[in-house]
Parts: sequence; structure tokens; C-alpha cells
Amino acid sequence: MTDTIATAPAVATAPRALQKWDDRVLVLGIETSCDETSAAVVKGGREILSNVVASQTELHREYGGIVPEIAARAHIEALTPVIAEALVLADVTFWDLDAVAATVGPGLVGSLLIGIAEGKSIAAALGLPFIGVNHLEGHIYSNLLVDPAARWPALCLIVSGGHTLIVDVSGHARYEILGRTLDDAAGEAFDKVARFLGLDYPGGPEIDRLSLLGDPEAVRFPRAMLNQDGLDVSYSGLKTAVINYVRGREKAGAQISVPDVAASFQQAVVDVQVAKTMTAAERTGASRVCMCGGVAANSGLRRGMEAACKERGLELTVPPLELCTDNAAMIAACGTEMLRAGELSGLDAAPDPNLPLAR
Ligand code: KG4
Ligand code: ZN
Repeated sequence: MTDTIATAPAVATAPRALQKWDDRVLVLGIETSCDETSAAVVKGGREILSNVVASQTELHREYGGIVPEIAARAHIEALTPVIAEALVLADVTFWDLDAVAATVGPGLVGSLLIGIAEGKSIAAALGLPFIGVNHLEGHIYSNLLVDPAARWPALCLIVSGGHTLIVDVSGHARYEILGRTLDDAAGEAFDKVARFLGLDYPGGPEIDRLSLLGDPEAVRFPRAMLNQDGLDVSYSGLKTAVINYVRGREKAGAQISVPDVAASFQQAVVDVQVAKTMTAAERTGASRVCMCGGVAANSGLRRGMEAACKERGLELTVPPLELCTDNAAMIAACGTEMLRAGELSGLDAAPDPNLPLAR
């Protein structure tokens, strides 16, 4: 007698979901790509019923950056209670859900694995579709959670700890990357400069806070790539310029105003990022500009982009702070659109730490 091994279906199906993939469809989103454990319930891809984020910042602070092994272990501990809380706050049960969406990449492989395993388990147990979502596509979709009328096409600036991309979003899953960083991501530059200045982790919000106390014109740091035609940016030279400036002043025995350095650095990033985004908008003829990712929480960038868009008569969508940084509502929103488009993943879905945006 031969043993039969039951294999999981390649694609989970859910007749319930397919019957009502309208504005009432309920998707559970799971986000564990980096150092936030998040679960959310989103209705119709637009209405956030709950969005719970458990941050690991305190665990990583003493190391001055994210330790992947610690992140993965913390996700294991936090994820189940975070999902339970998301369901309670949304006032729904597992049995009300129509699909489960989890981030499959890009991100830290061990962290991604936790969210994917739990998401697939829930989907399999309930017989629901599982949708593997690209984290960057999720960030793009955070913009649709802001304004019920918001829709594509739009020019989207993704500025996070790992990515800096200017993307022409012509429709769902239609992304053309027009510009990117050639070295450090914008958030990475904020974090590295902050660490050099002896500021707390994560550095972006710290520099933002200190900038309010400093003079952005105090030091004229270089604006790399600004005089070039292309839409790419580069931040490693700026980081080095900050380091050289501070060391030079120290050597000369001169005083350094950390708020002035922070404000001047931030202004250089803002000037470059706003200019490149405006050039991209001009070239594509976009009438709407969207911003997303952790650095989109930066007050200087928000002000700079607002002023530039206003001047040119462009509509600007910027998510509130809690939707700029990593969260599961954006994953559920993107997952809902993928559900509508029939883009389901198999239960063999695996993490892809380097998953590109274009598919
Ligand atoms: O999108 P996100 O939460 O995670 C990634 O996918 O990377 O972005 C995190 C990044 C970090 O580098 C953090 O320092 C930066 O976003 N960030 C900020 C601000 N808030 C978060 N950077 C500048 N100003 C802020 N207010
Ligand atoms: Zn992110």
C-alpha cells in the first residue's frame, strides 16, 4: 500500500470573497517586513477598521539599528496578539474575513517569514485566499487610504529606510520607476547622519525634531545630482559632507550647533527630493503627486512638497504619519486590489528579501 500525501492547493479559493469583492470586502493585512509588527482590517480596500502597530524600536535602540535576529523573534511573540487586537478593534471575527494579505518582500527574510507563515496558516484554516503583497506597493497604496476619491494615475515618491524611488503609477500594478537613489536611501541617510551626531535611534524623527530648532541655511551642504538631467538621487556624498564639516569644526576648536547641522542636512535632502519629484511630474504630465514611506513623515519634506505642488497647481496626497511608516492597513489595501484583480498567491508563497516593485 502506498501512502498518499495530501498537498496544499496551489491557490486557496474563497467563494465568499469572490461573491462580494465590492466595497464590503474585509481583508486582514499583516506586515512584518522590518521592525514593526502590524495587523489591520480594511473594508473595501479603503476604510480602515483597525490598524494595530507594535513597534520594536525599544528593543533595537541599544544597538543603534535593527538586529534581524531580534526582530524576527519579537515578531513571533507579538504577531498573534496584534492580530487578535486588530480583529477586536474592527469588531469582526476570523469568520467575517474574505482574504488574508501579508507582506512577502522586500525586507528582512526572518521577519517576513513570520508574517507569511501566520498569514498562510490563517488563510488555510479558514479556506480563504492568501495574497502576498509587495511592501513597496503597500506604501503606494497607503495614499488610497487617505482620501476616498483618490485614484491613479499619480506620480509617487517612496522614501523609506530602505528605498528612495520616484514611480509613475499609471494604474494598479502599472509602475514605472523613473528615479532611484544610487547609494543610500533617504531614511538611511537620516539614520546615519543622526547616529554620527549622537542622536537617538531611529534618527529620522530626531533630526526632524531638532531641525525645528535650527537654521536650515546655516551650512550649505551639497545637493548632489541637482544639476543633472536624470531623476536619480545620491545621498552618500551629503552624509560625508556632514561628517567632514563637523570634524573640521571640531579640529578647529569651533562650536557646532547640532540643530543647525540637522536643519541644514534636512534642507539639502528636501531640496533634492522636491526638485526631482517636480521634474518627474513635469515630464510625465502628472496632475497628482503622492508621498509615502517613513521619510514622508518628515515635516520639512511635507512642507517643501506642499509648497512646490501648490505653485504648480498639482494635487498632493500625503498620508498621515501613522500611514507613512510601516503598517498593515496599506498591505490590506493593496491586497484588496490584488484580490479584485485575481492576483492570489499559493500556500507555497515564500519571502523574497529583494522583491522588486515592477512585476
Ligand atoms: O517606511 P519605514 O517605516 O520603514 C521602511 O520600510 O524602511 O521607514 C523608516 C525610515 C527610517 O529611516 C526613519 O528614520 C525614517 O523612515 N523616518 C523619518 C521620519 N520618520 C521616520 N525620516 C525623517 N523624518 C521623519 N519624521
Ligand atoms: Zn516601509
